[in-house]
Amino acid sequence: MSKKQPPLLNVDRVSKLFTSGRTQALNDISFKAHQGEFLSIYGPSGSGKTTLLYIIAGLIRPSKGEVFIRGKSLSAIPNLPCMRRKTIGFIFQDFYLYPSFTVLENVLLPNVNQFTLAKKWVIKAETLLHQLGIHRKARQNINELSCGERQRVCIARALLNDPALILADEPTGSLDSENSINVLEILQKINEQRNTTILMVTHDTSVSKYAHRNIEIIDGKIRNP
Ligand SMILES: Nc1ncnc2c1ncn2[C@@H]1O[C@H](COP(=O)(O)OP(=O)(O)OP(=O)(O)O)[C@@H](O)[C@H]1O
Ligand SMILES: [Mg+2]
Repeated sequence: MSKKQPPLLNVDRVSKLFTSGRTQALNDISFKAHQGEFLSIYGPSGSGKTTLLYIIAGLIRPSKGEVFIRGKSLSAIPNLPCMRRKTIGFIFQDFYLYPSFTVLENVLLPNVNQFTLAKKWVIKAETLLHQLGIHRKARQNINELSCGERQRVCIARALLNDPALILADEPTGSLDSENSINVLEILQKINEQRNTTILMVTHDTSVSKYAHRNIEIIDGKIRNP
């Protein structure tokens, strides 16, 4: 009989105290996400949503508690950037795109530290831009793009390494309703067709309806855990 697989993501009693300002951003957060789940983290501004995603991605460390990816604690993973690149795609709240680089260069950025940029990555990035409907802008600079187009560049970048987990921080936060629906349908398709686990942060109930399951955070705590 096969051994039971650990969940893709296990957030175990995570707290975060920012000593500067003495803000208790997260307080004893626990939940699990399995492969193929689409989860939304819903909560008001300042409730700790971005902090939680940064901790899950290993970009900041929790003050207490642990995050496990496929049963392995982040604190026991020797090369976190490598794990992050292979397993996690991050769609940042503020985009973090390089304005003077082209669309294609921005999508390829997660892989530039491997020195030689194999042709296969360029082809992959171009294919993703095609799927997201912005291939015609591939050679244009980011600062020539609309907000909705920039958001799709972020999604393409997050998908480059076929991550098992996508962390999407307010992916529709700066979009109009038509572009929001478009982005949410793209995420839904990624989830259904690739079985990618998606953790999407939002403060909008109409956005959280796209998820299979909602986790509500208020003042750094899960409501009705
Ligand atoms: N680097 C930091 N240093 C000190 N305090 C911080 C830091 N980052 C976040 N905080 C504080 O932690 C709390 C949670 O912030 P966070 O950015 O996680 O909220 P959020 O739910 O993502 O809000 P929003 O919906 O506005 O993006 C806030 O009170 C914020 O001021
Ligand atoms: Mg935030």
